[in-house]
Amino acid sequence: MLDRRRVVLAVTGGIAAYKTAFLARRLVESGAQVRVAMSKSAAEFIGPQTFAAIIGEPPYQDLFGADDVSPHTMLARWAELIIVAPATAATIARAANGLSEDLISATLLATEAPVLIAPAMHTEMWENKATKRNIDILRSDGYRFVGPNEGELAGGDVGVGRVAEPEEILSAARAILEPSARGLSVLVTAGGTREPVDPVRYLGNRSSGKMGHAIAEEGARRGYEVTLVTTSDLPVSGGIKVLSVETADEMKAAVDGVEPHIAVLAAAVADFKPADRASEKLARSEGLESIELVKTPDILASLVARDDGPITVGFAAETGGVDRAVEKARQKGVDLLVYNNVLEEGSGFGTDTNRVSFIASDGDVEEMPLMSKSAVAIELWDRIDALVDSRM
Ligand SMILES: Cc1cc2nc3c(=O)[nH]c(=O)nc-3n(C[C@H](O)[C@H](O)[C@H](O)COP(=O)(O)O)c2cc1C
Repeated sequence: MLDRRRVVLAVTGGIAAYKTAFLARRLVESGAQVRVAMSKSAAEFIGPQTFAAIIGEPPYQDLFGADDVSPHTMLARWAELIIVAPATAATIARAANGLSEDLISATLLATEAPVLIAPAMHTEMWENKATKRNIDILRSDGYRFVGPNEGELAGGDVGVGRVAEPEEILSAARAILEPSARGLSVLVTAGGTREPVDPVRYLGNRSSGKMGHAIAEEGARRGYEVTLVTTSDLPVSGGIKVLSVETADEMKAAVDGVEPHIAVLAAAVADFKPADRASEKLARSEGLESIELVKTPDILASLVARDDGPITVGFAAETGGVDRAVEKARQKGVDLLVYNNVLEEGSGFGTDTNRVSFIASDGDVEEMPLMSKSAVAIELWDRIDALVDSRM
């Protein structure tokens, strides 16, 4: 809860401004005190009355006006956090260059509060060298960022530049105002391992790494120090330490080298690997009839067995009901197990959605609806944060 925490919501002029109304509502529901500042362009996209109705007072719109004698210094001092959502390329450029020519840029320049930026723009604008430079400057000045995401943009285009969802922005805001993270480290494993048969072929599985990567991103947004051990080459935000691996043995070695406070093992690790790896490509004419398999190391068990081991979250991708996973949660000694049925529509490998159940160490099952993988990551982190708060 953001109990009475003082948040200034700065809305600038992009199509995504309408989504900020949902964010304002969620901030109010979370207990925050909210004041809204709108740029002139923002008012082209959403009416000030909408925000007034949600937060209970009219937004600040002018640097020179009837709002307040000095609205920028008042907002700058009042805020414990300023969220700029959506943040246009123009507002980002003004902030990066220390300009203070309108209410929002003057407030940003005058504040000592943390600033969270949720950029939103077309991919071309986001990838423009000037924007990239401005983002780098703001990052090194200590501004925090959430998004942008990849997805559908205005006008039917698809690409990077879509504003982060209200829930993602809310969770990033909470991480700044009430960090469970407190410098804690997290290990996340992601992707499916590949066990070589010969230099060309491997035994693998269909895991894409999307779920694990979403968990790593959300952990980083919440301020945890994240190490991601992954077989996937999906893009990863700066600030996350990535260890790329391919096989179960490599993943085990990478995990052995990390001493995290929290471990989230989302990777689909092979249970068996070929006993021998041929050094040259096996030829059809050689008539290989079978491959002898041997067990791979149990990474989850090795973490649970550590003295003073981490808070451990396991994953169980099953093709049947939840019962086997409940049994696994009890046996494996994990703090939380995330179960999904990969045969269910929208829950399989490689999809952008997932329908999971969270199984507590005592076998209690909490079923979740079908959600995007980033929404599942948020729900999972809410539960991990609660475990952190109760243990550390
Ligand atoms: C229909 C329309 C949509 C726009 N959407 C965006 C956007 O998503 N991101 C952005 O950076 N600029 C966008 N712009 C341009 C900004 O509104 C413009 O740069 C403006 O000066 C931004 O001012 P502000 O940052 O003070 O709100 C859009 C303009 C129009 C006409």
